[in-house]
Amino acid sequence: MSTSIKTSKDFKRTTVTAALPYANGGLHIGHIAGAYLPADTYVRYLRMKNHDVVFVCGSDEHGAAITLRAKKEGISPKEIIDKYDTLLKNSFKDFGIEFDIYHRTSTDLHKETAQGFFTTLYEKGVFTKQTNEQFYDEKFEQFLADRYIVGTCPNCQNDNAFGDQCEKCGSTLSPTELINPKSALSGEKPVLKSTSHWFLPLQNYDTWLREWILEDKKDLWRTSVYGQCKSWIEQGLHERSMTRDLDWGVPVPLQDADGKVLYVWLDAPIGYISATKQWAKNQGEENKWEKYWLKQKDEAENSRLIHFIGKDNIVFHCLIFPIILKSHGDYILPENVPANNFLNLEGDKISTSREWAVWLNEYVKEFPTKKDELRYVLTSIAPETKDSEFTWATFQSRINNELVDTLGNFVNRTVVLINKYYEGTIPNIDLENAEIKNSLTDFDKETLEGIKTQTEKVSQNLESFNFREGLYQVMELARIGNKYLATTEPWKLQKTEPKRVEQIMKISAELTANLSILMCPFLPETSAKIAQMLNLESESKEGLKWDLAGRLNLLDGKINKATLLFEKIEDELVESQVKKLEDNKARKMQELKETHSRVSNEDKEIAPIQPEIQFDDFSKIDIRVATIKNAEPIKKADKLLKITLEVGENEVTVASGIAEHFSPEEIIGKQVCWLANLAPRKMRGVVSQGMILLAENENGKLVFVSPEKMVNTGAQVK
Ligand code: 2FM
Ligand code: ZN
Repeated sequence: MSTSIKTSKDFKRTTVTAALPYANGGLHIGHIAGAYLPADTYVRYLRMKNHDVVFVCGSDEHGAAITLRAKKEGISPKEIIDKYDTLLKNSFKDFGIEFDIYHRTSTDLHKETAQGFFTTLYEKGVFTKQTNEQFYDEKFEQFLADRYIVGTCPNCQNDNAFGDQCEKCGSTLSPTELINPKSALSGEKPVLKSTSHWFLPLQNYDTWLREWILEDKKDLWRTSVYGQCKSWIEQGLHERSMTRDLDWGVPVPLQDADGKVLYVWLDAPIGYISATKQWAKNQGEENKWEKYWLKQKDEAENSRLIHFIGKDNIVFHCLIFPIILKSHGDYILPENVPANNFLNLEGDKISTSREWAVWLNEYVKEFPTKKDELRYVLTSIAPETKDSEFTWATFQSRINNELVDTLGNFVNRTVVLINKYYEGTIPNIDLENAEIKNSLTDFDKETLEGIKTQTEKVSQNLESFNFREGLYQVMELARIGNKYLATTEPWKLQKTEPKRVEQIMKISAELTANLSILMCPFLPETSAKIAQMLNLESESKEGLKWDLAGRLNLLDGKINKATLLFEKIEDELVESQVKKLEDNKARKMQELKETHSRVSNEDKEIAPIQPEIQFDDFSKIDIRVATIKNAEPIKKADKLLKITLEVGENEVTVASGIAEHFSPEEIIGKQVCWLANLAPRKMRGVVSQGMILLAENENGKLVFVSPEKMVNTGAQVK
């Protein structure tokens, strides 16, 4: 059974979280479009509704990436996080993303909170302790977190893939999948060594997740979010280690856990809670955080939790963190997780390592008066249902055609004409008065109706996290206004029909006032400028209220002079920004090339030769030439191909771990060398007879060892 869709009205209060950014880099437009802008827009809307909301974020200051960078640069993690925490905090502030608190996960309060969670779960017997083999760097005497292992991606052959993820093709990896793994610390081949960790058995929550997500959230969560959860659940959940062997992080609060810290995905989401605690403390009401996070006895008192994130964080916020909250027992669970897809840039994936990004701090510095312009463009192209793309040409056309020509034009005409015709005093007409209503044309009435309709549409879209469509509907009101002035042409009637012009200008002014309210969550500065021009806020110090939207007669009395809302974006700006991107990329590629050539020279050393054998030993090995007759994938074995070889009159079957290197079609007909007398082995249900010989090239890609010329199959290799 699906639950009916609830809105903000159905809750007493809301906690809105935006993904805690790692404190080891800056923010780019992909981050902003993905999580922070929609969250900020939503919170501004709730605040306008006087809804009780707390909006939390902060720096994610642990995790292997930060430790790795510190080791590489020879500085302490603390130096890195301090630098980036400041950068992040300032970037958000300068861009106008208004959190109630921007906290840090390196604080004592966070440490206590995260350890408290671990202890509760530990005492409840939620974790299982397991001893496993993990990669270890013998030179640095340290276990290697997944991020610390680099090698060739089995999927795209990228030489710089990490043990947890390949940033080139985006695939999730485990360290043992990497071809030619190396420690990122010493550059040496890591060894496997045993270590103990505490695991969260996700599979134990399968039944609950099926009910809580697959049944209850079907019509509530975005299709892409729901789909990703469904696919994770249906693939089968496994236990995940909640601790790591690292010297930077929240220490595991157990006796036998020296040198171990909490896994960053247990630590970071708890950062939302510690941030709320600090926010409450700052207000002098230490326990105030509780009602935002803890289940209340009285249902009607319950709070709602909403996580704004990018799609790479879905599994952590929709499955793992809810499991943690649920197994703790005292906490509410997320009501919605409106995750976004990715934003691409000028035809390519945004990439920090390749410097293919538009950085927020640089944007704000370069265009301090164009924050709403970026908010507008990013919301208009928000990757809500699929990946989308930012180009500087789109930036230009959206601003010039929509903000300048439609919105700016309508507001400016209205304010200028009222100043010109009435010395800035709005015609005193009561649009709700029956007699006046009667005197209006159908077009007037239709236009006024637009105010109500658009308000409803914008509210509905905001309530259901459809920001892109919500903004479109705000602009629809500006389009209605533009059409109204263009059709009624008051400037042609002012001399002959001044009474009619009063009506037109009053209607236009009301439309403008409503626009100012509806756009406030999306374009706060523009909204404030319009409100200032119209004297809309003079009564209330708290800013515009959403409840005013959809009403008439919001204005009377004096307005102010028109000020410019937006400027056209010139071609030169587009050209210079694209050039900046290209230049950055070229510089970065050059740097990478230099590092790569250093690395591949180091690679020229060959693997050590095996201990000496006698001819007799060698003669035991029977190698034959064979031809690949057929090849096909093996179910549930991503790496294996089932290969049929022709050897003389016979056919034999071999399971070979080459599926990631060759497609079945491309190898049929090839002559290969086959180790014929290796004892048969069963692999994933296939009995493999012998083995095909392969060599690895410098990129870790496998190649066949084949006779130089075709020979009869079955020929012996001697
Ligand atoms: O992906 C990231 O950037 C993580 N630092 C997000 C953490 S979100 C939350 F769990 F804090
Ligand atoms: Zn890859």
